[in-house]
Parts: sequence; C-alpha cells; structure tokens
Amino acid sequence: MSKDKKNQVSRRQFLNYTLTGVGGFMAAGMLAPMVRFAIDPVLQPDEGGEFVSAKISEEDITTEPKRVAFNVEQVDAWYESTVEKVAWVYKQEDGSIIALDPTCTHLGCFVGWNDNENYPEHFYCPCHDGLYTKDGVNVPNTPPTAPLAVYEHKIENGILYLGKAIPREEA
Ligand code: FES
Repeated sequence: MSKDKKNQVSRRQFLNYTLTGVGGFMAAGMLAPMVRFAIDPVLQPDEGGEFVSAKISEEDITTEPKRVAFNVEQVDAWYESTVEKVAWVYKQEDGSIIALDPTCTHLGCFVGWNDNENYPEHFYCPCHDGLYTKDGVNVPNTPPTAPLAVYEHKIENGILYLGKAIPREEA
C-alpha cells in the first residue's frame, strides 16, 4: 500500500465522522434544554430578604406578646404554594419590636405564650415541656437547646412587615 493511500480517508470513514458529528450536535441541541429545565430552580437567584405584611400596625403592638399570622409564597422546585406562618410579636423594654418564630428548637412543635398556668410569662412547648423566657431564650434543663428564631422585620407606613426567621446561637 502506497503512503498516499494510507493517508486517504475512505468513504466509510468519512460517513462515520460526518454522522457522528451531526448526531452529536443534534443530541447536544436536544439535551441542553432538558438539562436546563432539570436544574432551573438551582439557577434561580435566592430572593431572600423578601418582607410580607403581618397585617398589624405598629401602634397595636404592645409589650404583651401577640400571635400574628401571615402568608408567604413558598416555592419548592416547580411547586408554588401559599403557606401560613406565625410570629409572636411584642415591644421590648426599649420600645423595639421583636417577632419570634414559635417553632420550638427541640423538635419543631409550636410554643404558646403564657398558656400554661405552671409557667406564667413564659413561652411553653406542650410536646415535651420545653420552656423559653419572654425574649425567646430557652430555659436550661428543658429539652430545647437553642433560643427561638427571630424574624427580620421592618415598619412601612406604620405596618409591620416580616422577613426570614433567623436562628440564634445555642444558649
Ligand atoms: S418539641 Fe418542643 S420541647 Fe420537644
């Protein structure tokens, strides 16, 4: 076999290369949108920091914790839903507002304010006798090991708006 003949591409090889190239290009064209669709939620920017109205005016907030319910739009991958959230809202000694997440830091039950006669002026969790002081700090030797989370908040036009619940360090 001559040297020239060795370097020549046969018709069969040419067809193989061409079909492989075109097939690969078409496969990539079909797969790219599917991959994009599959990981789309991961690519979305975190829209953290969104505040929603708690539908309570600043002047209606007193030093006594008040249970406030509000709705947030929740997105789990492609599923969007409206979820009701709850906060215990009150004014602290210095007049500043605090909004506590009622989710017990032990196993996630909801705590109530001043609703157990054995523990007046405390947040009490009925699931395993969890106890928190008014500022949401867990009482030592009760099941919760961390304080209640605190919602970000702001006042706009005299109305309370709540954002994310921020966990606090273990006491
Ligand atoms: S879930 Fe609240 S004390 Fe266990």
